[in-house]
Amino acid sequence: MKALDQIMEQIAEANPIHAKKLRKNLGKQEEAYLRKANDFLEEYVDFASRLGKDLEFGVECYLRMLSDFTQEYVSFMNSGEYTTKSFEDANRRVYNNPDVMEYYMHGLLLSQVLWVHHNDIVLFFQKYLPDYNGNVERYLEIGAGHGMYISEAMKVFGPKVTYDVVDISPTSIELSKNFIKSDQVNYVLSDIYDYQPDQKYDFITLGEVIEHVEQPVELLMAIRSMLAPDGCLFLTTPANAPAIDHIYLFRNAQEIRDVLKEGGFEIVHEITKFVEDVPKEIAEELKITLMYGAFLKVKN
Ligand SMILES: C[S@@+](CC[C@H](N)C(=O)[O-])C[C@H]1O[C@@H](n2cnc3c(N)ncnc32)[C@H](O)[C@@H]1O
Repeated sequence: MKALDQIMEQIAEANPIHAKKLRKNLGKQEEAYLRKANDFLEEYVDFASRLGKDLEFGVECYLRMLSDFTQEYVSFMNSGEYTTKSFEDANRRVYNNPDVMEYYMHGLLLSQVLWVHHNDIVLFFQKYLPDYNGNVERYLEIGAGHGMYISEAMKVFGPKVTYDVVDISPTSIELSKNFIKSDQVNYVLSDIYDYQPDQKYDFITLGEVIEHVEQPVELLMAIRSMLAPDGCLFLTTPANAPAIDHIYLFRNAQEIRDVLKEGGFEIVHEITKFVEDVPKEIAEELKITLMYGAFLKVKN
């Protein structure tokens, strides 16, 4: 049986309503999307087996992550706030909690193909990444989590580039090492605020990290100082997205753009996707989660 059919069957057994929703969304996708999703899931099975795990373990992780999201969503709808208030809370609750971090990162990795809105961001990354090929000698990923983005970048930029990963979570570093499977990557276990590279980077990826800090503008300014003057920052972040480790609440895409501008960046390409298929006005009123992604350059 194909990995995609297998995972859908396992999810349906544990959570039929959620599986119905996933099937409805995946059913609208073209054959090529489903083929790629299946290839990715086969890659996931290899990754899991290197860790002594299997697809069933991945499904368990995914469902635990989903249950966290549901609880956080209910609380967010009642209070209008995220439950995690500080970096210390997130660090204790998640990054330095190997059990939580393990299921969260496995679940997040699987969501990259099971959730069409996550996959749209990956496709957006793959679409424009080749434009930078030839101009990148030093690549940094901050908060790689599971390692999927840097692994995609390595396919495009090839072996001559220096690749660094900085992450505060030992679990993320371990998972990324196993997902990427290459001795070409240097891993640094550090808070990004304490990281002081001796040379600038040509390309920095920051996937779903700025909502994890208390002061995103401050983080962007620090990243700006690590980037070469004509370098690129690829960034993703969600708005109205309650999660166990989200601290900074963006309420809409404009708030994200304002923070990017204040942090010293200019948008080159941008994507916005609501997770539900409803008109923008209704989505904003109902606080439907919005996924945001952008290729950015340093503002002169
Ligand atoms: C939600 S995951 C993102 C994973 C992946 N980049 C993606 O887009 O799916 C956030 C990652 O950022 C890391 N992180 C959060 N705050 C950090 C900080 N201050 N310094 C370094 N890493 C941090 C976490 O450990 C985690 O691996």
